[in-house]
Amino acid sequence: MKLLDGKKCAESLIADIAKKVAGYVDSGLRKPQMAIILVGTHAPSESYVKSKIATCALSGFESVLIRFPETVREDELLAKIAELNADQTTDGLIVQLPLPKHINPQQIINAIAPEKDIDGFHPTNFGRMTLGQKAFRPATAYGICKLLQYYEVPVKGKHCVVIGRSNIVGKPISIMLANDFDIGNATVTLTHIETPRQLLLDETRRADIVIVAVGIPGFITADMIKEGVVLIDVGINRLPDGKLVGDADFAAVADKCSWITPVPGGVGRMTVAALMINTLMAYQHNFN
Ligand code: GUN
Repeated sequence: MKLLDGKKCAESLIADIAKKVAGYVDSGLRKPQMAIILVGTHAPSESYVKSKIATCALSGFESVLIRFPETVREDELLAKIAELNADQTTDGLIVQLPLPKHINPQQIINAIAPEKDIDGFHPTNFGRMTLGQKAFRPATAYGICKLLQYYEVPVKGKHCVVIGRSNIVGKPISIMLANDFDIGNATVTLTHIETPRQLLLDETRRADIVIVAVGIPGFITADMIKEGVVLIDVGINRLPDGKLVGDADFAAVADKCSWITPVPGGVGRMTVAALMINTLMAYQHNFN
């Protein structure tokens, strides 16, 4: 079993970005800038945003955090987004999810200028990504592709089973791996909460690559996978004792895997690194 070390890969990608940014700054240009809108005090969101701000600093980027209370109105958020869309020094803009129940997240995402949508959640970016055109790609899915590439894990022609159909992870990674460019060309099965248990097992047991993003600790057990599988664990779950674990029972499955991502230090690190790649792209006006 070999570890797909997201920390090491992310550090390498961020060092490359920081070098490029230092070059821009040396030639008299301003730094790239990311704006983050955070509503409320949801603990995991606080932690993700902290990590994004710290990684901006490591990349040589400016970051601006804009906080709103849980009671914020949709029109107040839309007004701030319009202001940031028009601001010349804001290259990338993210609204941390989840949002409170009274706010329609798609309405908010749709208001972000596609050329600043470094999360890749706007329909323009999602559509362009699906069609194989230049786009900001959702950071977690893009980060997984970068990690597989870094470790030269073969993907072309492999049978890949994705568990979870979220717009943030499951859907975009399925599309990216099935596409006929980049790291794609896999044969992809997308499973989800309505997939009958036996069908799920039939699929995972013959999969060359399993990508799990369900948010349930211990969901993937040793009997669900074949010997030599590549296991990408997107889950970040906090147990009652404070320990962070993924969606796989790591100790039980690791020996059966050819490659496996640890949690923490796997996909989570890559998500933030991919967001930095997208921000640099936005800064370089490299969207179109
Ligand atoms: N919440 C969980 N993951 C993400 C992400 O990738 N982007 C944003 N904006 N919110 C999230």
